[in-house]
Amino acid sequence: MTTNADTPMRTYPREITLGKAALTLRLMSAEDKSAVLAFARSLPPNDLLFLRLDIATEEGVNEWVNNIVAGRTTTVLALPPDGTIAGYASVHHNDALWNRHVGELRVIVGSEYRRHGLGRRLTDEVFAIARDLGLQKLTAQMTPDQKGARATFERLGFRAEALLADFVVDREGATRDLLIMAHDVAGFSDVEHLASAASASS
Ligand SMILES: CC(C)(COP(=O)(O)OP(=O)(O)OC[C@H]1O[C@@H](n2cnc3c(N)ncnc32)[C@H](O)[C@@H]1OP(=O)(O)O)[C@@H](O)C(=O)NCCC(=O)NCCS
Repeated sequence: MTTNADTPMRTYPREITLGKAALTLRLMSAEDKSAVLAFARSLPPNDLLFLRLDIATEEGVNEWVNNIVAGRTTTVLALPPDGTIAGYASVHHNDALWNRHVGELRVIVGSEYRRHGLGRRLTDEVFAIARDLGLQKLTAQMTPDQKGARATFERLGFRAEALLADFVVDREGATRDLLIMAHDVAGFSDVEHLASAASASS
């Protein structure tokens, strides 16, 4: 992977206004643990299904912060002045894995802030951070019924790449399908690699 930077080059904190809401965008740190936990617990369980970690538990948030400290996760929080959290977006990657060129984006906006452009704004932030980090392929996971999530990622050029049947299980034990959307940042794709490998060996 060609890495442009080890840390994001965008500057935070930054003030934004969406409708009537004045929000601060800044990077998450260990000090945000309890606010993040309260935010996660305020969300409908369906919204958390696509996440790798259960962020409504202390263990899940601790793991999230460990990933931030280790440089595997960068999270942008949107904060209203009252100290709660309106939404967040993350990019997660792991330099020690074979898929170190892949970043996974996640975004969640609290129900009272939805449909005002915050999801789009936060996704733009982490999309730019992912590019600054030099990641070549970006993915986003969701259940197929999350229409807002699909729209949010489609406008950035993401396309549905895989549908995994019965891949997630909710708290009641019911299974749900998982949709993986993906975006090749620099026109990178396995198909091109296969084509050049084939022409090199012929
Ligand atoms: C996905 C999510 C972050 C969108 O947040 P939001 O602040 O409501 O999004 P925005 O207002 O910025 O809208 C972004 C786009 O999605 C569309 N959209 C949002 N909610 C929608 C819905 N329920 N149905 C259809 N389209 C929707 C908007 O029209 C907009 O499209 P446009 O850019 O073409 O105008 C929010 O719905 C959410 O947190 N969902 C639960 C978690 C989730 O599914 N995360 C995604 C997986 S990573």
